[in-house]
Amino acid sequence: MSAAGPEPESPEPAGHEPVSVRRATAADAMDVLAWRNDPHTRAMSRDTGAVDEAAHLAWFAAALADPRRMLLIGEAGGAKVGMVRFDHADETEVSINLAPEQRGRGLSRPLLMAALAEVGGEVWAEVREANATSVRLFEGAGFQLQGRRDDIRRYRRPG
Ligand SMILES: CC(C)(COP(=O)(O)OP(=O)(O)OC[C@H]1O[C@@H](n2cnc3c(N)ncnc32)[C@H](O)[C@@H]1OP(=O)(O)O)[C@@H](O)C(=O)NCCC(=O)NCCS
Repeated sequence: MSAAGPEPESPEPAGHEPVSVRRATAADAMDVLAWRNDPHTRAMSRDTGAVDEAAHLAWFAAALADPRRMLLIGEAGGAKVGMVRFDHADETEVSINLAPEQRGRGLSRPLLMAALAEVGGEVWAEVREANATSVRLFEGAGFQLQGRRDDIRRYRRPG
C-alpha cells in the first residue's frame, strides 16, 4: 500500500490561520474594552477618547440586546483574536478590531470574511486615510472606495 495521500487543502489562503466567529456574550465585555482602549485602536477610531468601564459595560449590554447591532468574536487556535461589529441603520456598517497581541499575523482578512458571511446585503466601512493596514484589508476583501470625507475613506461592499 502506498502512503496516505496529501492532507486535504485548507479553505484558508496560504499563511492565514482559520478564524471562526461566534456571537459575543457578556463574558466578552472586558476583552472588548481592553481592545477598544488600546492606543492604536483609539488613534484609528472616530472617537479617540478612552472609554471608561462603567460606560462600556452599559453600552455592551445594550448592544448585545439590540437587533440593529451584531457583535461577533473571532477565535483562532482556541484564542479570542478580535471582534467585528455590524451596525444596521440606513446602511449596514462594519468595524473590526483585533486584540493588539494578535495583530500583524494576517488574521484580519479571515476574521472579516468569516464575519461578512454572517450578514447579507451591502456593507459599508469607514477607514481613516492614515490607516494603511485597514485600507489594505478592506480593499482586499472586495470593498470599493465610494468617497472621502475629511480624513475618512468610505468603502462599500456590494451585496
Ligand atoms: C486594522 C486591523 C484589523 C488589521 O489587522 P492586522 O492584524 O494589523 O493586519 P493583518 O496582518 O491582517 O494585515 C492586513 C493587510 O494589511 C497589510 N499590512 C500590514 N501592515 C501594513 C502597513 N503598515 N501598511 C500597509 N499594509 C499593511 C498586510 O500585508 C495585509 O494585506 P494582505 O492580506 O493583502 O497581505 C488591526 O490592525 C486593528 O485591529 N487595528 C485597530 C483597529 C482598526 O484600525 N480597525 C479598523 C477601523 S476601520
